[in-house]
Amino acid sequence: MPPAFRWSWSLDTMLKHSSIPLLVLTSLWLVAVGMAVMAADGETRDWRGWLRKFPNIAPAIQPTYLEECGSCHLAYPPGVLPADSWKQILAPASLANHYGDDAWLPENLVAEVRAYLMTNAADKSARIRELAFAVPGAARSDASLPRITETPYFVRKHNQVPARLVTDNPEVGSFSQCNRCHIGAEKGVFDESQVDIPGFGSWTD
Ligand code: HEC
Ligand code: HEC
Repeated sequence: MPPAFRWSWSLDTMLKHSSIPLLVLTSLWLVAVGMAVMAADGETRDWRGWLRKFPNIAPAIQPTYLEECGSCHLAYPPGVLPADSWKQILAPASLANHYGDDAWLPENLVAEVRAYLMTNAADKSARIRELAFAVPGAARSDASLPRITETPYFVRKHNQVPARLVTDNPEVGSFSQCNRCHIGAEKGVFDESQVDIPGFGSWTD
């Protein structure tokens, strides 16, 4: 039996018995063509924007945390460090010696902050970007505290950003000042398209 015959037979059968799958395939194809046309027109900013926002980070919302941990730097989203790292940072001895600063708080406030950070830490989340932060930084031989800026994900994402734009930039100072460059940081938006580095501008790879 020649293959051409089988093909026309199966097409015929499909047309007779499978009008629903055909209709679905045709609609999908029309949607794809529509999206391609929209993309060419530059009308797709909305759905692309939605796709970009999806893997962002849940912003910090707990009032005590925002108040007590947001005065010297961004109140970092809880999902940028795993629970164990937050626990180390909030230990009483650590808070009094906080990356060279004194961030001591009374225990009742620490307890509130701890409960909030531990339940919303990177390793408690299902969001793509928070999960990326869930891997702790390299083990430290000294007693220094864990850093977001030392997590493998952070390092990988920022290895193209030269020191002259960060530590040598008086308007930034260090990578710990997320919101100097990420204009949407307080809302949990860390997309590279929303970066504006002081004295340099937006980021294009
Ligand atoms: C008195 C000011 C001050 C307060 C209040 C404060 N911090 Fe900090 N924090 C600092 C400084 C200074 C650094 C180091 C920044 C640098 O290296 O440029 C830092 C760094 C950090 C880092 C590491 C950032 C990195 O580089 O990855 C974390 C996490 C952090 N703080 C969490 C907290 C938490 C949680 C609280 C509230 C309990 C808090 N901070 C309150 C001053 C403060
Ligand atoms: C000096 C400016 C600067 C600072 C400060 C900074 N970033 Fe960034 N960040 C960038 C740039 C530029 C990129 C894009 C890099 C690239 O694509 O090569 C980026 C990328 C990212 C990304 C990945 C975005 C994407 O679209 O994939 C995340 C997440 C992020 N930063 C989080 C943070 C956090 C959290 C902090 C603070 C602890 C921080 N950044 C501090 C400049 C900065």
